[in-house]
Amino acid sequence: MVPPTAIADPASAAAPIGTPDAPAIKDPVRDTILTPRFYTTDFDAMAAMDLRPNEVELEAICEEFRKDYNRHHFVRNAEFEGAADKLDPETRRVFIEFLEQSCTSEFSGFLLYKELSRRIKAKNPLLAECFAHMARDEARHAGFLNKAMADFGLQLDLGFLTANKAYTFFKPKFIFYATYLSEKIGYWRYIAIYRHLEKNPESKIFPIFNFFENWCQDENRHGDFFDALMKAQPDTVRGLQARLWCRFFLLAVFATMYVRDVARKEFYEALGLDARSYDMYVIAKTNETSARVFPVVLNVEHPKFYTRLERIVGNNEALSQADASSSPAPIKALRKVPFWAANAIEMAKLFLMAPIRSEQFQPAVR
Ligand SMILES: [Fe+2]
Ligand SMILES: [Fe+2]
Repeated sequence: MVPPTAIADPASAAAPIGTPDAPAIKDPVRDTILTPRFYTTDFDAMAAMDLRPNEVELEAICEEFRKDYNRHHFVRNAEFEGAADKLDPETRRVFIEFLEQSCTSEFSGFLLYKELSRRIKAKNPLLAECFAHMARDEARHAGFLNKAMADFGLQLDLGFLTANKAYTFFKPKFIFYATYLSEKIGYWRYIAIYRHLEKNPESKIFPIFNFFENWCQDENRHGDFFDALMKAQPDTVRGLQARLWCRFFLLAVFATMYVRDVARKEFYEALGLDARSYDMYVIAKTNETSARVFPVVLNVEHPKFYTRLERIVGNNEALSQADASSSPAPIKALRKVPFWAANAIEMAKLFLMAPIRSEQFQPAVR
């Protein structure tokens, strides 16, 4: 899952280091708008959902989930032994950050799906079963990442995270847009890294990347589930409101990812990737995929699209610098105001850019 929210300045916290045998508990990174979100929703509305308009497809997807293709996939092998020690300090730092962010996102997916499954079980068994299978997958993903963190002498305290994270309430249709996009973008992110490392094995800095191919198929299936669910609730992807919300969520997800990834481009460099080109590819692919269900998608090919995102990247650098200065808090805040305002204006301009009607964008797929 990735956060479907707007832009703030990124931040991370220094981590205590333990040993693989006695991992230190890692404090979650300081909450900013860029860190993964935890969600909650209207469970009664979810339970009351009528699936009949697309029940056959949902039943078929559930049948796929039951097969549990990755049951035996997430098993650590000898390759992990000593792999963490081979990373130089800078790569180690950015890689740990990547593991932590990914683990938190996977875990936030697990919590949401698990809670949904539990709360709607009696009234909507098919939907509840789908969510239970997805929770199973996300728990596996989060657990696998957390084990990799233990290789670096760190562990995310998932129990603490569950109890102490702030939960964002989203109406069901917003959960659909946000989670659909985060699953599909997750698929494209993982598969792009996997394919790149397949061609450039010398850049495979850690064996966890070997698992990405099957892993991203889980995310792809989760995305397909939300696609089918939105088609079962056609009002979520029909009409003016839906078009505006889809634009908003596409933009929020793309902008958040772009700004975050450029800010931690060292991680991508360690894999032999350029963060900007990687994100442009992932954004183009996710946008294209979204046209299968969203009524509109963004014109990401428009020359102004990335010019504006780059301005946000620049503003965020200025915000980080203001944060790092030794000025008193009120002065800092005052120095930050123009950059916040500039970000808001850029986001508004991005939102107002003419979208592309999905039926015109990809007629063959629809
Ligand atoms: Fe996942
Ligand atoms: Fe997923």
